[in-house]
Amino acid sequence: MVSLTNIRKEIEHFANYSTTSVGVSRIAYSKLERDSHEYFSEYMTRLGLSVWRDSAGNTIAEYRTKNADGTPCLATGSHLDSVPKGGRFDGIVGVVAAMEIARVLSESQTQLSKPWRFIAFCAEEGARFGQACNGSRAIAGLTEAHHLDALVDETGISMSEAMRAIGLDPEQIAESKWNPDDCAGFLELHIEQGREIEAESLDLGIVNVISGSERFLVTVLGEPAHSGGTPMHLRRDSLLTAAKIIVSLDEYSRKPENEGVRITVGRLKTLPGSITTVPGWVEFSVDVRDFDSNRRSRISEEVTEIICDPGEENGTKVTFEQIGNTHAMALDQEIIDLIQAVANEHSIRTKVLPSGASHDCQIMEHVTSTGLIFVPSVGGHSHMPSEFSSFESIHAGVRLLFASLFRMDGISLSLRI
Ligand code: HGY
Ligand code: MN
Ligand code: MN
Repeated sequence: MVSLTNIRKEIEHFANYSTTSVGVSRIAYSKLERDSHEYFSEYMTRLGLSVWRDSAGNTIAEYRTKNADGTPCLATGSHLDSVPKGGRFDGIVGVVAAMEIARVLSESQTQLSKPWRFIAFCAEEGARFGQACNGSRAIAGLTEAHHLDALVDETGISMSEAMRAIGLDPEQIAESKWNPDDCAGFLELHIEQGREIEAESLDLGIVNVISGSERFLVTVLGEPAHSGGTPMHLRRDSLLTAAKIIVSLDEYSRKPENEGVRITVGRLKTLPGSITTVPGWVEFSVDVRDFDSNRRSRISEEVTEIICDPGEENGTKVTFEQIGNTHAMALDQEIIDLIQAVANEHSIRTKVLPSGASHDCQIMEHVTSTGLIFVPSVGGHSHMPSEFSSFESIHAGVRLLFASLFRMDGISLSLRI
């Protein structure tokens, strides 16, 4: 039986892998992310599964029974990295679900018609390097070694350097690619990071489309100057230009024709950062999310025009680079219908909804048919210490995930889960 006690225990265990005591900080390709993968690997090894780490740093465990040889696998899992000062549930819910399902299968020695793989992805968050989902992108064959050199964090460390520092070889990244013929389906359990399910007092969500994201790093070059001795008309204030861009991007995203576009400036640095000096240099991130891939090029073009627009006005120069790019993805309708049917059989109240956040399963859709089950987030809080989902709702999510995988395996549920 799926155990709520185990689920709670493992979620709380992973929260210890953090550099901060307030919120969870376990960033992509950090030592702590590796340590959490080691824990996952030891747990799955103790259950008797075969476990390996791929060249991107993902940890994969496989449960295979004798009559499953040679058939394509089913897979489930989620990511172990977090945003800085994030929550205890983002990604972890899907990893712990994989661990709990593997435990039940192993202890009951359940015979399955396909091998089942349990994946702990790495580097899913775009918070450190901009590009999200590097682990699943490697499995989908979307990432090449030279991409990793170009992705740099705010301290100037590239993704390649970060990978080498924890024993991974970025030059081998292509070896992580799966052959799509080897996989018959992938399901992920994740927190909603929104408030729709809670608002309608439902139990769980089933996702039909996952938002795309495009990220930019913008630099504004002005001239540092004395804040007392420099009259307003002689200034080249880089922070003023940045502020104009940020307000224009916010106004742009609220236009009726751009309904559904979400633009966020989450990180901004200014130099010299002194109270009495006009800022001469500003760098800030722009995160653009949208569900509608048909208008993607229009939005991208208009956003970059807004970014470049005010540069000359007060004698500053604006440059920008794209640091992340993930397309919106519609998920497989057959899988949505299957999960919905299983939920109804188990009297689990669900709704079909879009995901504003991006997820590994939107990348796994390049490998196989995928599905995404949401657990409600209390108050919609996520990417912050107050992120919370009830363990009861996570327990229901693990049961629905388990029963849906059984259905995809083509065998009737032989377990009371
Ligand atoms: O940022 C996101 O969309 C997700 O949390 N990776
Ligand atoms: Mn996240
Ligand atoms: Mn996540």
